[in-house]
Amino acid sequence: MSTKALLPEPFKGANISNRRHRPKALFGLLALCFVSLTCTLYWHGYSSSAWSHSQSIPLDAREILMRCAALKARPGPPSNFLEKRSESDRFEEGTPATIIRNATIWTGEKNGTEIIYGDILLDKGIVQAIGEVQRTPVHEHHTIDARGAWVTPGLIDFHSHVGIYSLPTLRGTLNLNSNKGPILPWLRTIDAFDTHDDSIQLVMAGGVTSMQVLPGNLNAIAGQAFMMKLRKTAERSPTSMIIEPPEDINGSYSDSSDHPRWRYLKQAAGESVSLFGNRMDIMWTYRQAYQRASKIKAAQDAYCAKAEAGLWNSIVDSFPEGYQYEALVDVLRGRVKVSQDVHETVDIDAIVRLSNEFQFHVDSIHQAAEAWLVPDVLNRMWGGPPAVALFSDYYRYKRESYRGSVHAPRILADHNFTVILKTDHPVFNGRYLLYEAQEAYHYGLPLELALASVTTAPAAVAGLSHRLGALRPGMDADVVLWDSHPLRLGATPAAVWVDGIVQPLGTEIGVLVGKGKESPEWRESPKVPDWKQERQEALKWEGLPPLEIDRVSEAVVFTNVSAVLIRGAEGIEYMFRSSAADHTKGDVIVHGGKITCAGVSNACNPLVPNRARLVDLEGGMLAPAFISFGSNLGLQEIAYEPSTGDGLPFDAFAQDVPEILKDPGGIVQAVDALEFQTRNALIAYRAGVTAATSPPSPFFIEPTFIGLSTTFRTNAPHALAEGAVIQRISALHCAIRRPNVLALLKGHTQFPSVSTRIAVLRRLLLAEADERAGETAMWFARAAEGALPLIIDVGSADVMAALLKLKEEVEQKRGTRMRLVFAGAAEAHLLAKEIGRAKVGVILTPLRPFPETWDDRRILPGPPISNDTALVTLLENNVLVGIGTADAALAAQTRLDLAWATAESNGRVSPEKAIGLATVNLERLLGIDQALQEGDMVAWAHGSPLDMQSSVVGVVSSAQGWVDLL
Ligand SMILES: *[C@@H]1O[C@H](CO)[C@@H](O)[C@H](O)[C@H]1NC(C)=O
Ligand SMILES: *[C@@H]1O[C@H](CO)[C@@H](O)[C@H](O)[C@H]1NC(C)=O
Ligand SMILES: *[C@@H]1O[C@H](CO)[C@@H](O)[C@H](O)[C@H]1NC(C)=O
Ligand SMILES: *[C@@H]1O[C@H](CO)[C@@H](O)[C@H](O)[C@H]1NC(C)=O
Repeated sequence: MSTKALLPEPFKGANISNRRHRPKALFGLLALCFVSLTCTLYWHGYSSSAWSHSQSIPLDAREILMRCAALKARPGPPSNFLEKRSESDRFEEGTPATIIRNATIWTGEKNGTEIIYGDILLDKGIVQAIGEVQRTPVHEHHTIDARGAWVTPGLIDFHSHVGIYSLPTLRGTLNLNSNKGPILPWLRTIDAFDTHDDSIQLVMAGGVTSMQVLPGNLNAIAGQAFMMKLRKTAERSPTSMIIEPPEDINGSYSDSSDHPRWRYLKQAAGESVSLFGNRMDIMWTYRQAYQRASKIKAAQDAYCAKAEAGLWNSIVDSFPEGYQYEALVDVLRGRVKVSQDVHETVDIDAIVRLSNEFQFHVDSIHQAAEAWLVPDVLNRMWGGPPAVALFSDYYRYKRESYRGSVHAPRILADHNFTVILKTDHPVFNGRYLLYEAQEAYHYGLPLELALASVTTAPAAVAGLSHRLGALRPGMDADVVLWDSHPLRLGATPAAVWVDGIVQPLGTEIGVLVGKGKESPEWRESPKVPDWKQERQEALKWEGLPPLEIDRVSEAVVFTNVSAVLIRGAEGIEYMFRSSAADHTKGDVIVHGGKITCAGVSNACNPLVPNRARLVDLEGGMLAPAFISFGSNLGLQEIAYEPSTGDGLPFDAFAQDVPEILKDPGGIVQAVDALEFQTRNALIAYRAGVTAATSPPSPFFIEPTFIGLSTTFRTNAPHALAEGAVIQRISALHCAIRRPNVLALLKGHTQFPSVSTRIAVLRRLLLAEADERAGETAMWFARAAEGALPLIIDVGSADVMAALLKLKEEVEQKRGTRMRLVFAGAAEAHLLAKEIGRAKVGVILTPLRPFPETWDDRRILPGPPISNDTALVTLLENNVLVGIGTADAALAAQTRLDLAWATAESNGRVSPEKAIGLATVNLERLLGIDQALQEGDMVAWAHGSPLDMQSSVVGVVSSAQGWVDLL
């Protein structure tokens, strides 16, 4: 760090010689006292003892003293930042002003409780006025009539890898982690930030305007992070996207303000760092690193103490440097905001010890699956408790996240910790940052804290609350206008401004946003269930509450029922619905798991049996239970722990299938590997997902080329229990995808080409069934005959086109009709018409598209980027569509996905249609409609499955003849 710019006026041109000359030296020292208050303390020292010996003052004494003074400066905004601010340092010349009139503005002020109904004026890159804005700028400006719609500050994703894990993933753009060692404080994400990352625009379309770009979690100290805006600048460089860049980012000062800028560092502990040793090794590498940094700091401090005391004779060396470790020295000086990845108690405790041993503050802990269980440990963090940055509901995928809880945000908030929600993009699509806050709100995080968790809280923890996270005059003009209340599922930005510049969210002109959300309730905050009891249970059982159910064989009467939805010939239809005028809701009588009566106001009364359980649904409804498709649900307890699941199957392409299988294809049946009572399955059951179809595909590697899926009940005790396996073999699966970059980087080199895969498929589908050709040939022959669905995991529309041709070829040659389904299918919308005409089904996995790989890059993102979504386009082309999830830990979120599908469809997907996507449509696509003719029903309290207010109270199983009450 250069000190020149810090030189105060009285010094400029001062002449300090190195000759031993008392009066001059005295002048020098007096003058130096302008630099820092500490000097006055030393002054007394000089006058008494030290001064009695004459000192040789080096030529660079001023520089040294300036540098020493600079070490003590606290980071922060320039003093009087807001008072002085009439124009942003990020203002782009020529940007017109904007007045948004008649908005409902959540300002983030007053602890998130302030709502202003009125106007907001954005000019010169900052918020100029808020409330009733009379004055209009004289220069060019736009006026937007918000018609009462919600406005919030731009969202901040405090944990993002945008730019350094660029999409679509290609070998050249993966810069998430270095593997050069566990301690790498000298690395900087800004040095790798790809401005052409497809995510940038996509994430901004979710209302996210700023982010912390962190390196990944494979190193104990992974490198320096940066707070950046997502807006592309006129300069187009990564540097210009940094918010308040540290002065030395380019080796020189950008201004001569009185405070240095905050710096950011990423650390990680626990399993993710195992490349470099076990937990003991990792903590030792931390301690070594901080010990080394402490020594440099101590040497600097001693050096400066001597310099400041004027003891120049005892200074022989140059200033103690440690270029590699300077970032850690700055951590010890309290000038770096540390983000610490850490999941479970053992690691949280270790990091808290580390912070106390070396006396530095960890500002935020991330992932933090067990933080909610150890508030006292967090409170022992040196320098005060850290903020906690969480997912709303992504746990159990690792052993160390096994005890995570959806109730964590609320429990942490109750303990007064700052709660931040984040996406860890691309772990979750950064576009849906607000979804994380919505889900946390659903599970009890108070409204103002839910909104704060993605605005004011990350701004404060980043040390940037003087300009980001809230709306008041002087703040950065980062503003989002929403089409609904921001905490409603599917809330979509109608417009996004960054630094006062309206952002082009798509290439299309005039995209429709918010159709179907005209009714007033969309402007209101959604009601949410009361989870008090669940919170207490979660705490009592340290994150693993027993997932028991109360099985009822006697009659059950559901009262206060607003509707009953059933599987009908045309899809999901109403069996009964109380009309809006009807204040008395209906009753539903269930005998032996079967609905014997459903009707309004006492119609069922005569049929109520003497002995019956009464369950008040408080306006809720009964609806078909969901099926989860596509993950390894029921095949593995913990995704990252191969020993908790089936293990890896042979891949006919990657290696020799053992001779003993007597099947060159090495085909396997998922049903043989089923594992019951996994926690993911039980939790899914309690979220209304009572069945799952899982292919034998291990998580996180290239999907196996072939296998046979199975459909099972998510709450069955074991495979031999009645009804546990719904359909032993549901479908034949294969994957036709281009090489997976991550697998390539992991050293998997044998990737059969797409054309090779299709060649094999062609041979298998056209071959005559012949027992001697092995199991694989037999199953493919059945698929060719249409006796079994063939589900192909495919992303690219070009590959789909080739597969449609192949289907035609097979059907012509064999005179059959295949039941072909595309799963994944990110680009299916490009061929919607052809897919519809060929009567090929599609299972969108995931529903909300993500251009993760080259195969998946041409997504149809939906509003505000495009009018249509992939779902709407496929449905309108008469494609039978289902939804899937690739991750068993997310199966329980099926209902939220469906709600999202409705909300972002511009009114074109009705709730019934949406529910069909995870029920009847999947059943037909998977050929399990016969087996599920008597499918389960779920009883929801307080509304429909798509309402954030509702929760599951029971499962009615006609096939099993019972009712499960939660
Ligand atoms: C915000 O909350 C803090 C902590 O509870 C409290 O000290 C402060 O007074 C509150 N501020 C406002 C404006 O309500
Ligand atoms: C603001 O918008 C609401 C909703 O469109 C409307 O009812 C109200 O009259 C508008 N108020 C003003 C001052 O324009
Ligand atoms: C949280 O803060 C509130 C208000 O400052 C205080 O009353 C309460 O005791 C605190 N709770 C905990 C668990 O520290
Ligand atoms: C989106 O839909 C609206 C309303 O139907 C239409 O006016 C607009 O042109 C459409 N935009 C595009 C890009 O198709």
